[in-house]
Amino acid sequence: MNIFRTKSIDLLKEGAEQKGLKKTLGALDMVMLGIGCIIGTGIFVLTGVAAAKYAGPGIMLSFVLSGLTCAFAALAYAELAALVPIAGSAYTYSYASLGEIIAWMVGWNLILEYSVGSSAVAAGWSGYMVGLLKSAGIELPHAFTAVPADGGIVNLPAMVIALFLSALLVRGTKESATLNKILVFIKLAAVFIFLALAGPKVNPANWSPLMPYGFSGVAAGAAIIFFAYIGFDAVATAAEECRNPNRDLPIGIVGSLAVCTILYIAVAGVLTGVVPYQQLNNAEPVAYALRTIGYNIGSALVGTGAIAGITTVLLVLMYGQTRIFFAMSRDGLIPASICKIHPKYGTPHIITIVAGIAVALIAGFTPIGIIAELTNIGTLFAFVVAAVGVLVLRFTKPDVHRPFRCPAVTIVAPLAVLSCGYLMYNLPGETWVRFIIWSAIGLAVYFVYSYRNSALNKQKVAIEAE
Ligand code: ALA
Repeated sequence: MNIFRTKSIDLLKEGAEQKGLKKTLGALDMVMLGIGCIIGTGIFVLTGVAAAKYAGPGIMLSFVLSGLTCAFAALAYAELAALVPIAGSAYTYSYASLGEIIAWMVGWNLILEYSVGSSAVAAGWSGYMVGLLKSAGIELPHAFTAVPADGGIVNLPAMVIALFLSALLVRGTKESATLNKILVFIKLAAVFIFLALAGPKVNPANWSPLMPYGFSGVAAGAAIIFFAYIGFDAVATAAEECRNPNRDLPIGIVGSLAVCTILYIAVAGVLTGVVPYQQLNNAEPVAYALRTIGYNIGSALVGTGAIAGITTVLLVLMYGQTRIFFAMSRDGLIPASICKIHPKYGTPHIITIVAGIAVALIAGFTPIGIIAELTNIGTLFAFVVAAVGVLVLRFTKPDVHRPFRCPAVTIVAPLAVLSCGYLMYNLPGETWVRFIIWSAIGLAVYFVYSYRNSALNKQKVAIEAE
């Protein structure tokens, strides 16, 4: 039994060519895809919560800490994404570098990032939409807008948006990318409206004390608002549909991350500058801050933009999940029959629908508060493995052509591992317990199904780990 068998990069590329996805995306599409997935619930909701509970105005520093962590991970991701430009992200990279079982565990934990994350975002979308309808005089019954744990029957709006977006993804990537671009512009406008209106009203006295809960508060805040950065790696999951991945993929990842980091620090600074941080623990801190300083129309505009922002996050997360499943099923680790490409639309329709239904069910019936933290730990785990993978490949396959090389890799990759590990360490203990249980289930599935059904097993083309 060789659970550390690896798939060669050529073999991975060959598989992709045989069962390829349509190549329709350019560099701007990739940056937009990144921003589309990055700016959402994190900045519009979690910033306020993290500032009030953990970091105070030091939330600005939390964003720097978290942003730096993502920058290290992004550089490693960009090298791997350009080197192995096919669908599957960290899952695919670890298959080429660290072996099948590690790849499986990464793919399994990416489900936390993408599906659990999508469910949480869909439920957040529902909350905003319900609030907007309510302010327009349309009140939906509580029974159909809340999960059973919150006294309802089902969160129907969350299910509807998840199913609607998966139908859109079945229709085709290009159409989805176009809609994504429009929504990204709307949410960027919302962020800039907030900065323009609230910026001049900042009272520096609100920034003092900067770290009311000390540096540990800033670190805990960084571990929570890490959620706000999740998504830049989704760009990598679209590698196979990119017209020129070697150039556009690194641009997409690093570019979208840079834009978002600057905006986040600005929003966090202005938010804690106009309102005392203790007041920010509510469902819509950005809109709340604007109302507090007297901009009611501005607040409604920003709220609408936030809905657009959250929609794009959901679209890209769901897109990313289907592509990771696609890659795993192509490798035989999950049933290959659901990997089929739609003859007309050129998308992996079965898997897209299955993932959409799963996200809708989780969002419709599960209390998201508990499972949302899981998103962060699963994602950080994948980043740690990707950073180790880039180093391993430098040593095991030094001569492979690397269109993008991670600068100072012997420093950056270990820094990515350490900083991601540090954020994981700062997440609550219960999150660790759930993460370990989830991983144990994943291992069981691997040994019962995936190991035997792996394409490497069947075709006897494994390149044995040395
Ligand atoms: N980064 C994404 C958000 O903040 C997941 O909603």
